[in-house]
Amino acid sequence: MIWTALLLFHVALILFLILSGRSRSKREPPLDKGIIPWLGHALDFGRDASKFLAKMKMKHGDIFTVRVAGLYVTALLDPNSYDAVLQDSVTLDFTRYAQVLMERIFRLSLPSHNASAEKALMRRHFQGESLTCLNSIMKGNLQSLLLRSETPQDRENWKQDGLFNFCYSLLFRAGYLTLFGAEKNNPNRDSSAIYEEFRKFDGLLTKMARNTLSPEEKRTTSSVRQQLWSLLSLGLHGKKAEDMSWLQSYLQHLQEQGVDEEMQRRAMLLQVWATQGNVGPAAFWLLGFLLTNPDAMNAVKMEFNSLSWQVDSPQHLPLDKLQNTPVFDSVLNETLRLTAAPFITREVLHNTTLRMADGQEYDIRRGDRVCLFPYLSPQMDPEIHKEPEKFKYDRFLNMDGSEKRDFYKGGKRLKYYTMPWGAGKNVCVGRHFAISSIKQFVFTVLTCLDLELCDPDSSMPKVNASRYGFGVLQPMGDLQMRYKLKGTF
Ligand code: HEM
Repeated sequence: MIWTALLLFHVALILFLILSGRSRSKREPPLDKGIIPWLGHALDFGRDASKFLAKMKMKHGDIFTVRVAGLYVTALLDPNSYDAVLQDSVTLDFTRYAQVLMERIFRLSLPSHNASAEKALMRRHFQGESLTCLNSIMKGNLQSLLLRSETPQDRENWKQDGLFNFCYSLLFRAGYLTLFGAEKNNPNRDSSAIYEEFRKFDGLLTKMARNTLSPEEKRTTSSVRQQLWSLLSLGLHGKKAEDMSWLQSYLQHLQEQGVDEEMQRRAMLLQVWATQGNVGPAAFWLLGFLLTNPDAMNAVKMEFNSLSWQVDSPQHLPLDKLQNTPVFDSVLNETLRLTAAPFITREVLHNTTLRMADGQEYDIRRGDRVCLFPYLSPQMDPEIHKEPEKFKYDRFLNMDGSEKRDFYKGGKRLKYYTMPWGAGKNVCVGRHFAISSIKQFVFTVLTCLDLELCDPDSSMPKVNASRYGFGVLQPMGDLQMRYKLKGTF
């Protein structure tokens, strides 16, 4: 009897050790596996990653390893040490984890994926003269969606909408028409249908990434994906040639890689997400902060008015006049400081050592992931940004009106004091286009529309905590507002 009990005890112990994984060696970061075998901290991480990582930071400091659904993730939360990760793109790989997500979210597999060729292609199309050209197409599309789509009667009436839907839908459709072209006969209809489907897809994105869809949600995502694939591939034929340059080069690149037609269709959805998924939500937070902070709204309006008084109508303001906008730039920086919350995730290809800014070294194991979360620090770090939870429109302005770039932690001037676009080799390729699109959108809305909150006392909605780690945050609920074209338009 006693032997059976001992045997069972040992079997249970061995099973527990196998299931609960590894132990920490002396040179590794503190290891926190959580109490649930294999799953570890997955539930807390998925529920509210920001809260969870802040709790772990309190417990372990700026670097620690946690177990999440069988994986070991080392979180690094000291911005002074971020370069140790961002500068090492050989050992700490961006592409592999991106491929895992491509497969999980987009059912896309690109085995001969050449990330650097693809990035070079993007750079070519989102910089310099090509960027100027894209910005000008975007301007035309924004204006036609915002200003020219109504009957004269409609134009006089107030319309009500949720601010999130209003911003996301307009920027998504204008961005889609700009980068993916439009069917000649029906530009608005195809972009609206794609937007509607895309919102359903986007709503389930975090669950797809974490593999936590319910059977019902799995059915929905599968049918929405199919629907989007066919809408997007319909759109691939009969486009206007001048709108196709980036898309054409991208498709040609895929064909050269031997990617079949089905995967090309799927790649379109990935590109729609990468190029349209963050801009609308960012514009929502920005306009929301302006509508709930009258001082900020007045400052931005004064800046825009000072630019547009020389032209007969703000619509005719040349784009280069919108370059010098320090107040708007500070508002955008502040908005993204509060709402851009991506994980910068890298897969560890070989055992390596991370050297922190204070000289401390930590060994990291092959097969683990390293994750930076700039939202916690620098962006919400009270040592760097006083009262970090408050929106202060002039936080990134010096007294003389120039851009403020001096921020400190531990007495050291920071290289990274806000990081909405990532940094280093994998910094966002589309950031200049994104900034220009948001600026043009806010400029057009504020100069051409009367826009007000339905309830002047409403405050900004809470964030959807399950989206921490996935780019720009989204609200729980919406902010109701009404708008109409100004009398002069
Ligand atoms: C508010 C809008 C946007 C935000 C906050 C944003 C943020 C980011 C961040 C944080 C990364 C780095 C990810 C990492 O290092 O792990 C990134 C990468 C990237 N972004 Fe954006 N992005 C935005 C809009 C756009 C747009 C409009 C485009 C394209 C037109 C774009 C294209 C890309 C691409 C291609 C990469 C990958 C770069 C690489 O492979 O190295 N993004 N973005």
